[in-house]
Amino acid sequence: MIEPKKIRTSTLEQFKVSGKKFACLTSYDHMTAQIFDAAEIDVILVGDSAADNALGYSTTLPITLNEMIPFGRAVAGAVKRALVVVDLPFGSYEVSPQQALENSIKVMKQTAADAVKLEGGATRSDTIQLLVANGIPVMAHLGFTPQSVNTLGGFKIQGRGAGHDALIEDALAVQTAGAFAVVLEMIPADLAAIISEKLSIPTIGIGAGSATDGQILVWTDFAGLSGGKPRKFVRRFAEIGQTLSEAARAYKAAVADSSFPAKENEFEN
Ligand code: KIV
Repeated sequence: MIEPKKIRTSTLEQFKVSGKKFACLTSYDHMTAQIFDAAEIDVILVGDSAADNALGYSTTLPITLNEMIPFGRAVAGAVKRALVVVDLPFGSYEVSPQQALENSIKVMKQTAADAVKLEGGATRSDTIQLLVANGIPVMAHLGFTPQSVNTLGGFKIQGRGAGHDALIEDALAVQTAGAFAVVLEMIPADLAAIISEKLSIPTIGIGAGSATDGQILVWTDFAGLSGGKPRKFVRRFAEIGQTLSEAARAYKAAVADSSFPAKENEFEN
């Protein structure tokens, strides 16, 4: 297929039909968004993982819509090619489809993103329908849904045992409601393969094996910036945390021994 200038929701559909796997990353700021866009990452998600990765909260629950919007604006303003999706944070869409519509309009107007993402399956059908009917593309998110960490009993793999069929039903429900894609987080690889086969919309995996149509990683994980032991499904494609730490130490030492600033860093009279 001809390489698209701008990724749209229809482009992802074409990728699925042609079997082209696509790559997605999160970003919360202008500079990383520019770098990922220039590297032809297809979807950039302004995830509510900004809560822990940019704001230092311990879960995604506290982040508000008003906190998400500047991240969305910074990313959308940097991107020329990728599809930019902004997460609707916890508390901004669950009360009613009307609440979701009002807040999604706010996101679309104030960030210039291309779409929103929300968590949940069949219970969100009415909401997805209303948003799509009003011109707002919706990415759904199933499996481990971080905003429900308290009802899911922690960071647990979903879709095992009785959850297997329910997850398939939820995936079909969000497709029927009009979602253009669905994120599948932390589910068994064979279940993700079944869902990807059954759905005509693209599936995007994170901890869901290799059979999904696209993959997504949180950028601070993939770049080696997050501390601690990476989760099983993460591959660190760089060690930016280590590089930055070494740079900070080298800078400190150069200031201490007066080798920085050097002559070439000085202004002449
Ligand atoms: O907020 C986020 O980063 C996400 C990804 C894990 C898909 O929702």
